Amino acid sequence: MGLVTGACFAKLGNKVICVDDDIPKVEGLKRGALPFYEPGLEEMVHRNMKQSNLSFTTSVEEGTKASDIIFIAVGTPQKPNGEADLTSVEGVSRRIAKAMAEYKLIVEKSTVPVKTGSWIKRTIYLSNLHKVDFDVASNPEFLREGSAIEDFMKPDRIVIGVETERAADILVELYRSLNAPIMITSIETAELIKHASNSFLALKISYINAIANICERVGADVTKVAEGMGYDRRIGREFLDAGAGYGGYCFPKDLSAFIKVAEEVGYDFELLKVIQRINNFQRQQIVEKAKNALWNLKDKTIGILGLAFKPNTDDMREAPSIDIIRQLQQEGVQIKAYDPQAMKNAGRILHNIEYCPSPYEAAKDSDALIIVTEWEEFKNLDLLRIKQLLKQPVIVDSRNVFAPAKIKALGFSYIGVGR
Ligand code: UGA
Repeated sequence: MGLVTGACFAKLGNKVICVDDDIPKVEGLKRGALPFYEPGLEEMVHRNMKQSNLSFTTSVEEGTKASDIIFIAVGTPQKPNGEADLTSVEGVSRRIAKAMAEYKLIVEKSTVPVKTGSWIKRTIYLSNLHKVDFDVASNPEFLREGSAIEDFMKPDRIVIGVETERAADILVELYRSLNAPIMITSIETAELIKHASNSFLALKISYINAIANICERVGADVTKVAEGMGYDRRIGREFLDAGAGYGGYCFPKDLSAFIKVAEEVGYDFELLKVIQRINNFQRQQIVEKAKNALWNLKDKTIGILGLAFKPNTDDMREAPSIDIIRQLQQEGVQIKAYDPQAMKNAGRILHNIEYCPSPYEAAKDSDALIIVTEWEEFKNLDLLRIKQLLKQPVIVDSRNVFAPAKIKALGFSYIGVGR
């Protein structure tokens, strides 16, 4: 998020300095090597580096001194109890405070629990060596991995949480050229908009997954149910794709953090807990489907297509593939896997897997294929070739990539989600 935001602000004509403590990461970026895959980002970073709009350093001091606005985009990982770990936010706030020699606007962009803004303010106030003026703001991001640049450049809305007009003016000016609706609120409200948006999107996903389970029991088609619901403008079709459930670095972590935040202020946010439960159940269901299709799993070989938590990213954090593959391995299944981008990252987490150079290699001599991530290239597979390569023509499609009638007509035993 930091790198995408930095590169996009540079593209808008600002001078951007990206700061990180990770020396190899910064050295790599200085040479133009990106630490992760995001469509369009590499080219954007290279172009803006060439135009001297984008640079990299490990020095918070250097970044602070040279900047008018400082975005905090450090990680807020999950603690074992579900709370967000804000140590990095605190640490970097203190370092910024010590380096400030004139007015700075410090903007929290990391997803943080409500009230973090006031903690940042207090921390900076206490370490403000030169007693300079400063403002703290909250400017939550709504970028999705895989389409982060587009989401930045064409936002549905920009939320600015501030305490002063000066801070509001600076941020409005910064975003003016995007021509998006800008909402100015208090810092707490801005923080809550982010939490409430992410958990609402997770709710939509769990809701449709619950509907999918009913569809399977009554012989209905969840994709049609979602379409029918989606025509209602009050509901909308987006985020109603049933499947293996949500993963990634945001929804799982944000939901846990929001449950904790609610708990701390004395509210038991039961709804969020149910969203989590449905999501976990959904992953287990995929393994159950494989079991139902193959009878005994022990000593079977299964080809997995797609490992990343969603298409167009190499991100494996909280990917449904991890749970699904581990459960299958526990049942004694041999795994062959293919993903267009995520195999390197997957290799660090998932072991005893044969990583394959193509979907066809993953299908070869496997007893079944499970589609876990709906990469575009899977939609165009040569299914007759896949059928010849598989030991038996079984496909579990956890993202409803294929049309059931068509694939069944090719002679496959096909199991989707909720249809
Ligand atoms: C999410 C939000 O969509 C962003 O607005 C937000 O800025 C970001 O979190 C964040 O907090 O940083 P992201 O996690 O990148 O973005 O990806 P999404 O596109 O939201 O997908 C999340 C998960 O939900 C994926 O595993 C995806 O496969 C799953 N999903 C999504 C479904 O299972 N069904 C759907 O209909 C949509």
